[in-house]
Amino acid sequence: MYLTACFILLADVLFTADCSPENGTVELKLELKTSTRSSLNPRFLSLTVDASLASEPKYVAFLGSQKLMTLTRGLSPAYLRFGGTKSDFLLFDPSKNRSQEENIFWDVQTNKAGNLCDQTLPPDVEHTLRSHWPSQERLILKETFWNKYRNTTITKSTVDLLYRFANCSGLHLIFGLNALLRKGNEWSSSNAKLLIDYCYFKKYNLSWELGNEPNSFRKKSGIYVNGYQLGKDFVSLHDLLSKYPSYKNSGLFGPDTGQPKTKSQNLLRSFLQTGGQTINSVTWHHYYINGRTATIEDFISSNVLDTLAPEIQTVLQVC
Ligand SMILES: *[C@@H]1O[C@H](CO)[C@@H](O)[C@H](O)[C@H]1NC(C)=O
Ligand SMILES: *[C@@H]1O[C@H](CO)[C@@H](O)[C@H](O)[C@H]1NC(C)=O
Ligand SMILES: *[C@@H]1O[C@H](CO)[C@@H](O)[C@H](O)[C@H]1NC(C)=O
Ligand SMILES: *[C@@H]1O[C@H](CO)[C@@H](O)[C@H](O)[C@H]1NC(C)=O
Ligand SMILES: *[C@@H]1O[C@H](CO)[C@@H](O)[C@H](O)[C@H]1NC(C)=O
Repeated sequence: MYLTACFILLADVLFTADCSPENGTVELKLELKTSTRSSLNPRFLSLTVDASLASEPKYVAFLGSQKLMTLTRGLSPAYLRFGGTKSDFLLFDPSKNRSQEENIFWDVQTNKAGNLCDQTLPPDVEHTLRSHWPSQERLILKETFWNKYRNTTITKSTVDLLYRFANCSGLHLIFGLNALLRKGNEWSSSNAKLLIDYCYFKKYNLSWELGNEPNSFRKKSGIYVNGYQLGKDFVSLHDLLSKYPSYKNSGLFGPDTGQPKTKSQNLLRSFLQTGGQTINSVTWHHYYINGRTATIEDFISSNVLDTLAPEIQTVLQVC
């Protein structure tokens, strides 16, 4: 494509395009003509890989797709959060063998020399996984519909694939640990310790969360955890992380409460009293639309997008 215009003026933004048609690349520079209104974190636009992908860990091999990594790289820098309801139903077993799908993928990696990020999921494996995915999707939707979740065991391979995807795409991984592993009233850290040990051994640089939407734990699992207790659980995770030289300063985010309705606000308030000192940022979830009934127009409606602003105000009042 030959570009004739190298300056594009758009409202108060100036694009400079450095055209070099010889090799077909165009470098775009964007400068604001007006003074900055406010600065956002460079990772403002971040994303989640829903933990339900690991409901059957072999599907995490999807993240080995070179195409997916190339597309994701366009969003860097960003956080890649691995979390969601299912993260409170995942158990890490370092002695369990990886699935056949991951095995094939890993064989490809170990048999070829070169950069780990250059290896890709073999097309035939991807094809097979895709053809099995619709039935897996039905299972996931069924669990969501009935609010009944089974436990799933993840392996070292699951963690490797997630980390590799984040790292090779230039994203920083936030791993959501299972908060529903309890010992009496308290969080039991032993399974998290196995996972952290493994990440430490592999020199993975990542951040952490503990529990997803704790305000609805009872509905999802029959276990009730109040805000004070969850805060104490974060203190024990923080103590555990501080024993690892590379994790004593790693990010810890929470408590990942649902929409800030009264119940979630109360949970957040009491959580902050006991656990507030342990976290780098307060996290909560905003639902713009109901994904089951939303239309394309909803996704680009400024009225819908504006619904975030009052919720931020609500949460700021709690904090
Ligand atoms: C294309 O040309 C530009 C300007 O000459 C140069 O900066 C850039 O590195 C080149 N890109 C590739 C992929 O060769
Ligand atoms: C795990 O893999 C190893 C090596 O491939 C094999 O020897 C072992 O039998 C496997 N264990 C299980 C439980 O499948
Ligand atoms: C999941 O595993 C944990 C630990 O073994 C157990 O306490 C819990 O009841 C299990 N949950 C389900 C839904 O099976
Ligand atoms: C990916 O891993 C390499 C090697 O450990 C490291 O140098 C690099 O900073 C990592 N990138 C990201 C985005 O975490
Ligand atoms: C770990 O990643 C964070 C976020 O990308 C970065 O700021 C930090 O320097 C990294 N730490 C190490 C030891 O590479």
